[in-house]
Amino acid sequence: MKRGVFITLEGGEGSGKSTQGKRLADALRATGRDVVLTREPGGTPQGEALRALLVRGETGAWSAASEAMLMSAAREVHVRTVIAPALAAGAVVISDRFMDSTRVYQGFAGGVAAEEIAALEKMAIGDCKPDLTLIFDLPAEQGLARATARGSDAEDRFERKGRDFHERLRDGFHAIAAAEPRRCVVIDAARDVEAVFADVWTAVETRLHG
Ligand code: TMP
Repeated sequence: MKRGVFITLEGGEGSGKSTQGKRLADALRATGRDVVLTREPGGTPQGEALRALLVRGETGAWSAASEAMLMSAAREVHVRTVIAPALAAGAVVISDRFMDSTRVYQGFAGGVAAEEIAALEKMAIGDCKPDLTLIFDLPAEQGLARATARGSDAEDRFERKGRDFHERLRDGFHAIAAAEPRRCVVIDAARDVEAVFADVWTAVETRLHG
């Protein structure tokens, strides 16, 4: 039985969601809440090992279908061993990316059929759906410029997928927000960190106390 609150952070490249996730975790801890901040792909030793394979190297190294299966395998371990136990213990779990990234990167932009993505999603997460999903929205060009400016690490396999791919990501996230307005809040991420965080905090407080 779920007792905690499950928040996911989603968006394209360079949307600032990881910075916002850390701030949100700190702010919630300051109110006395038990918080687990985690990420995908990753969050477990198995997931981090899969991440290393997925986010580096040639863009063509994996098909979108392979990516969907590997992301889902990592997610199943993450849900079963980290997220569900933390929620059962009453924590606020914040995951930097979750199922919507697979729907959008591998499905909407990558071309894997929605039914196939849905089947993998069911296997990976069961009924462990987010209570709140914050979608950090900004033009693809702006996000990619930020990601490039940031980027000394080699985790840029998806960033190199081309402009069209990244524009489709934004459309995909908008489509999810429109289809699930109770779960999703779209945040204008093309502003400074403080302004974005004010909206993040409002959305989270509304969900926690509303
Ligand atoms: P990050 O840069 O936000 O840490 O995410 C790593 C990359 O993995 C990012 O380019 C998006 C991609 N990704 C997918 O393509 N599908 C997924 O299901 C997840 C979780 C991430």
